[in-house]
Amino acid sequence: MRAKISGTGSALPDKIVTNDDLSKIVDTNDAWIRERTGIMERRVSDEGTATSDLAFIAAERALANAKVTAEEIDFILVATCSPDMLFPSVACILQDKLKAKNAACLDVSAACSGFNYALAVASSFIETGKYKKILLVGADELTKYLDWTDRGTCILFGDGAGAAVLTATDKNDGIIASWLKAEGILGNSLIMPGGGTRDPETKNGRFIKMDGKEVFKFAVRALETSVKEVLIQAGKSIADIDLLIPHQANIRIIDHVIKKMGLPKEKVYVNLQKYGNTSAASIPIALDEAYAAGKIKPGDLIVLSGFGAGLTYGANVIIW
Ligand code: UT7
Repeated sequence: MRAKISGTGSALPDKIVTNDDLSKIVDTNDAWIRERTGIMERRVSDEGTATSDLAFIAAERALANAKVTAEEIDFILVATCSPDMLFPSVACILQDKLKAKNAACLDVSAACSGFNYALAVASSFIETGKYKKILLVGADELTKYLDWTDRGTCILFGDGAGAAVLTATDKNDGIIASWLKAEGILGNSLIMPGGGTRDPETKNGRFIKMDGKEVFKFAVRALETSVKEVLIQAGKSIADIDLLIPHQANIRIIDHVIKKMGLPKEKVYVNLQKYGNTSAASIPIALDEAYAAGKIKPGDLIVLSGFGAGLTYGANVIIW
């Protein structure tokens, strides 16, 4: 028994913030951001929209596409590092919105790697037969934690949510391999220090702090390593990949790694120019878009690979 993705969905806030918009509030410019990151614009949620609101829209779309009702869902996993509040979890808030009354609920905290981590957990639950229909959501609103005077971070992130419904399959498809790793020793290079028990009153600031160069070096290594390791587990090679969906952080990270791996650009899905880095939402949004655009066909070998705060990284191989 394996887990397969039976339907996907995504949700993005309407508000678009362009690089030119940012150049009016911080010392940056469109040319620098495009050249150094590939990002052209990002979506920013308004004050009244919380992470669970975007998660709800993405989840409803995924359920409709999978033709599964909310009541059939027996587990909800939400990958997020920007929950509505410390508790209850976004998964519980989402359960209530969806009226998915038969589900257990859990948030997965692995930042931008969250969707890959949650997918690995969810597919294991289905493989054991313990759960049958799992709703998996990656949702983040990191713009709420940006210092809009820090040009090293505020240009990078956007808000969004992506969802997938996992069901059981006994055919030759589904999630065939998962590989996860973390390097907590590098944790300080990407942190959101305020609001936790170390600093409940957020005296140290409530903004994301990042050593961009350190994270960049890690990201290049993490993307390459996770793809190679998960392919070994799957018994496949780079040449077998039909589509790689990497975490959408910076086009230079992606270009560098695919060139080194010898993977042609046509086999890599990129949408970061439109949304920036949406953290745990980036891979499920890209998966939903790629499927809707007809870039994924039955039998295709899809690799999802992510990296992020923790520092964490991981990948999954799917036969669609
Ligand atoms: O999910 C994981 C999340 N994080 C990441 O993926 C981040 C990974 N890191 C990166 O993407 C890159 O390190 C950044 C995009 C953050 C920065 O790019 P970089 O090529 O590493 O730039 P840099 O920090 O080395 O800065 C180069 C120059 C500096 O000026 P000087 O010292 O050469 O005069 C910076 O002050 O560019 C300057 N700079 C900027 N200029 C205009 C830095 N940020 C900006 C900016 N606009 N936004």
